[in-house]
Amino acid sequence: MTSPSYRIAVIPGDGIGTEVMPPAQKLLELAGTRYGFSFDWQELEWGCEYYSRTGRMMPEDGIEQLAECDQIFLGAVGFPGVPDHVSLWGLLIPIRRAFRQYINLRPVRLLAGIESPLRKVPAGGIDFLVVRENNEGEYSESGGRLYRGMPQEMAIQESIFTRFGVERAMNYAINLAEQRKGQLASATKSNGIIHTMPFWDEILRDLAKDHPNLTVSEYHIDALAALFVLDPARFDVVVASNLFGDILTDLGAAIIGSIGIAPSANLNPEKEFPSMFEPVHGSAPDIAGQGKANPLGQVWAASMMLDHLGHEDAGRDLIAAMEQVLTETDIRTPDLGGTATTDEVSDALVTAFESLSPAGVEK
Ligand SMILES: NC(=O)c1ccc[n+]([C@@H]2O[C@H](COP(=O)([O-])OP(=O)(O)OC[C@H]3O[C@@H](n4cnc5c(N)ncnc54)[C@H](O)[C@@H]3O)[C@@H](O)[C@H]2O)c1
Repeated sequence: MTSPSYRIAVIPGDGIGTEVMPPAQKLLELAGTRYGFSFDWQELEWGCEYYSRTGRMMPEDGIEQLAECDQIFLGAVGFPGVPDHVSLWGLLIPIRRAFRQYINLRPVRLLAGIESPLRKVPAGGIDFLVVRENNEGEYSESGGRLYRGMPQEMAIQESIFTRFGVERAMNYAINLAEQRKGQLASATKSNGIIHTMPFWDEILRDLAKDHPNLTVSEYHIDALAALFVLDPARFDVVVASNLFGDILTDLGAAIIGSIGIAPSANLNPEKEFPSMFEPVHGSAPDIAGQGKANPLGQVWAASMMLDHLGHEDAGRDLIAAMEQVLTETDIRTPDLGGTATTDEVSDALVTAFESLSPAGVEK
């Protein structure tokens, strides 16, 4: 049997995206060597610098180019000088929509060796998944601006919730919860947002009727945010709309130690199109170019890509290497209280990976 080769679109993007991408690629290569597969990297220099040269975040046929690839591996986009709505709507959102990446899956798990800023949380004391609806909701193009520059200037932004879109995100979350502890929490705000959120809740209740073994809880988003801090151990799977999921997962990243660790998978669950894997964090212009970027979020995203490609053993090894560095050394970047550079953490990850027997067992 020939060993598989995966064509991966690599978009390092801007700022620290270009710094955390090479270490993650290096570990993916090592994983491939160990488990008998390889990567054919399609390096794409798209992002804000490309925009400043061409007026576009990606070429006109960008989506067609990506469609030729098995998966997309992204760093981060956004840089001062290019408005954030331009960078987001010129690259990430079109990709998520064109390839029906309607699930944004974000693990919130406290790794061994990291101290949560929350008091007395042991490793494993925070371990849940956030399923963020990734194609519609509050991130819509519906609306407009009127009377620009005049005293009566106004802006309207409409949210779009379709039964089809909400159901498929919730079904994905239900399925995940059934494979875990059977507990699903839903983020709502049906007291204040009186059309879309009651609709969201109704759909959840309808779907839940067919899953009597599932424990379903509804939380207003404000109370849910507080519970992420006060009692994160209660959560198993959390399902949320596009905006709520986005905000909740930055908080999730904070309680597991740093936004520099948290990963994110934009999934087309049916695998009809490429999915896209990226860290939760952005391009961090405040630390770009200083060697301070934590590569762990990008490496964890690489591990999720390996899982999606069906190489769960290899994915587990990447996490095991991360945990080994965190538990057995004090090599960590400043966001985790250390003094190490991105390169030093990357070298330590390679050493740790090489010291593991396949599937995460230390030699
Ligand atoms: N998916 C994406 O590409 C994405 C996501 C979020 C923000 N952005 C963009 O990134 C730019 C900066 O946004 P922001 O400042 O709100 O968010 P950010 O995530 O870039 O940074 C927030 C804070 O976290 C720190 N941080 C982030 N990642 C880190 C890492 N790996 N290691 C150490 N510290 C890290 C930064 O130094 C900063 O202090 C904006 O242009 C924004 O639009 C892009």
